[in-house]
Amino acid sequence: MTAPLMQKQWRLAARPDGIPDRSHFELAEVPIPDLEAGKAVVKTLYLGVAPVMLRYMRNETEFESPMALGAVMAGRGVAQVVESDCDDLPVGAIVQARLGWQEYALIDTSHRPAPFLLPTDLPLSHGIGAVSLSGITALVGVRDIGLVKTTDRILVSGAAGGVGSHVADIAKALGAREVVGIAGGPEKCRRLQADMRYDRVIDYKNENMHQALDSAFPDGIDLYFDNVGGPLLDNVLARLRRRARIVICGSISEYLVEKDDKHRFANLQNLGRQDAKMEGFFVFDYEHLYPECIDTLAGWVRNGLLNPIEDISVGIETMPDALADLYLGTNVGVRMVHVGEPNPHP
Ligand SMILES: NC(=O)c1ccc[n+]([C@@H]2O[C@H](COP(=O)([O-])OP(=O)(O)OC[C@H]3O[C@@H](n4cnc5c(N)ncnc54)[C@H](OP(=O)(O)O)[C@@H]3O)[C@@H](O)[C@H]2O)c1
Repeated sequence: MTAPLMQKQWRLAARPDGIPDRSHFELAEVPIPDLEAGKAVVKTLYLGVAPVMLRYMRNETEFESPMALGAVMAGRGVAQVVESDCDDLPVGAIVQARLGWQEYALIDTSHRPAPFLLPTDLPLSHGIGAVSLSGITALVGVRDIGLVKTTDRILVSGAAGGVGSHVADIAKALGAREVVGIAGGPEKCRRLQADMRYDRVIDYKNENMHQALDSAFPDGIDLYFDNVGGPLLDNVLARLRRRARIVICGSISEYLVEKDDKHRFANLQNLGRQDAKMEGFFVFDYEHLYPECIDTLAGWVRNGLLNPIEDISVGIETMPDALADLYLGTNVGVRMVHVGEPNPHP
């Protein structure tokens, strides 16, 4: 009998109270899964990390099944189908799917969002970011929730992050004139203008936010794309123009804050005064838009309107550090890990 082929797999070892680190994970060596009826075996090429993974680890989300200690760490990535008993997942296809933090996975089409095919003329890493969930989140947020207008003066928080790094390009591709980005530190702010088409930047770690917002928006804000939440959102609520829109994409500044210590908003009434709206959204609920969004985003990448910014480390061993980087604020653009190369003859 031949020995089974082995793969590496990260498992949840402990639930973090603060920023997750290597002590919360365990790297196991296990056999590559066998093919099962109706499923496909895929080889992982890239894995993404997202702030919400901290909440998976603490069992705080409803959309990810409860994670037991010892379970494979949940997450999505880009993979190549290497064996298949599923017509929708043919051998050789490059898909974005729920893989878990492992080098090979046995997948099917039952999880939502279902695995989706990626454009193969673009770098496969874009299947984590620009033509995948980060880009789709930015596009749905700006266009379908934010209802962007050409006259809007737009503010984006978390502007140098995975989602935020797409927002200015997308808003401009949709006709917006001016987009202001907020990020932490001079180097990120430099990149916002040099690489991400932000017109003006605010360094929230080194500037007085009241003064900076007064100066950037003397007449108020039309559209706020919020990745951060907390006191900054409250500050923006006080500066809305009439019929302003706030897109609640995420609230990363609050994810590590205990329930009783979360920010209490003082300026919510301004929504009513200004005939404004604030709307949250969850990209998994917009699965019906994915094919059109991927076509649109891929078209913009091809014609240079969308510049994907990626922050890639190599090797599945780097996954815990990649996740921690989101909370340490060291990533610029979409943080991901390059796990493997596609087989030339799958
Ligand atoms: N609605 C949806 O369906 C959806 C989908 C995907 C993501 N999201 C949400 O969108 C947001 C961005 O996600 P992402 O994947 O693109 O991650 P990301 O922006 O790359 O997240 C990391 C960045 O967040 C910033 N950050 C970290 N801690 C912070 C804090 N305490 N206060 C302010 N900023 C902080 C840091 O940038 P700075 O150095 O600039 O602070 C860091 O580089 C998250 O809130 C995420 O949960 C929502």
